Amino acid sequence: MDKIVIEGAASPLRGTVTVSGAKNAALPIICATILAPGRNVLTNVPRLGDVRTVVKLLAITGADVELRWPEVVLDTTELDNPVAPYELVKTMRAAILVLGPLVARFGRAKVSLPGGCAIGARPINLHLRALEAMGAQIAIRRGYVEVECERLQGAQIAFPVPTVGGTENVLMAATLAEGVTTISNAAQEPEIEDLAALLTSMGAKIEGAGTSVIHIEGVESLSPVTHRIIPDRIEAGTFMVAAAVTGGEITLQGVEPAHLTAVVERMREAGVEVTLGEGAITVASRGPLAPLELVTEAHPGFPTDMQAQFMVLALGAQGQSRITEAIFENRFMHVPELVRMGARIQIAGRTATIQGPSTLEGATVMATDLRASASLILAGLRARGTTEVLRVYHLDRGYENLVEKLNKMGARIRRVPSELY
Ligand code: EPU
Repeated sequence: MDKIVIEGAASPLRGTVTVSGAKNAALPIICATILAPGRNVLTNVPRLGDVRTVVKLLAITGADVELRWPEVVLDTTELDNPVAPYELVKTMRAAILVLGPLVARFGRAKVSLPGGCAIGARPINLHLRALEAMGAQIAIRRGYVEVECERLQGAQIAFPVPTVGGTENVLMAATLAEGVTTISNAAQEPEIEDLAALLTSMGAKIEGAGTSVIHIEGVESLSPVTHRIIPDRIEAGTFMVAAAVTGGEITLQGVEPAHLTAVVERMREAGVEVTLGEGAITVASRGPLAPLELVTEAHPGFPTDMQAQFMVLALGAQGQSRITEAIFENRFMHVPELVRMGARIQIAGRTATIQGPSTLEGATVMATDLRASASLILAGLRARGTTEVLRVYHLDRGYENLVEKLNKMGARIRRVPSELY
């Protein structure tokens, strides 16, 4: 398998980088095209492993797919197979997002249960309970969840915790249900707003997306559309940290600053200069960094998907930082790898205490999830010597052209194909 090699402690990052479309918006939006028979055109779609996986799922259901990156055309006129097989679901949990749309369109679906995950148990009980409340009959057979329903009925869904995927599944399913569905304690992530914008342009009746209460009035049918995916706020945040840990100055283009409020606030608290513009963010790091106290939260709080990257920022700070992971129970997989590079981090329960400033040494490292892998790249940029990051497929799932983009800003980073070592 390929690896990424970073010559660390290089010159500070400088220049501009264009942020790609958001993975976590593209995934549910691709699934949502199941609801609107016809030719749906999605633009600004990031060319990523996870996006390919979900496109394959659509192809299995019978969709005609054209990949013309960054455009993806999905013709969902004639779907005939409401099934998501284990072989694909096991590689990407977000595959569960086909469940709501398949049930809404076919009145039945068979989707493999996702199984274990590197960052926590990540059950789907809340997705299933909500569909049940909408009148679906659910059975688990031989590792698959099998759902049946004549037509879904509008319902009051109150989530005990805000779940991004659960909110998306119910939102999609409710567009074609009979009557009104209300989701309370809904997730408020920008990706939910983007999904609601797509569904609304398809003809759905939705109010309140982006707040904690969403009302959906079911309609008889939806029509295909052309839709542009929002920028990836986590990719953007990752580059912001890259600039800060190298003491550089970069400008992000094609970004939506309003989606990054919590990240920008925490960076400023750490002493990084952040200037917001129209579709642009400039990040400059000149002086010493201050330690951080942060807790991950559902949006608009600080995103769990930026926790691992901020740990590398904290490693450069003058003093002790504390980072608490409140969303997932096992999302510190990067810590033992960072420690191997010389970081001083201790974990007690869900809180990591980071002693800064740490001198990092290059090492061969690997991680078991996407954002943890990103944090190792950032650590490699800061470390003295050479860092090799293995299991590159995690990064390919969620970062488009990461190596090229960092190189263009002056990082000394390259991808080594597996046949060369
Ligand atoms: N939860 C349940 N039961 C459920 C669903 C969720 O207990 O049925 C719990 C989870 O275990 C977790 C919490 O609720 O503790 C929140 O999970 P959520 O459902 O919001 O997460 P998700 O939809 O599975 C999405 C992103 C993740 C991101 C989280 C949190 C996509 C495709 N994935 O996952 O992104 O970390 O929201 O913001 O949108 C990533 O991109 O690296 C990534 C992991």
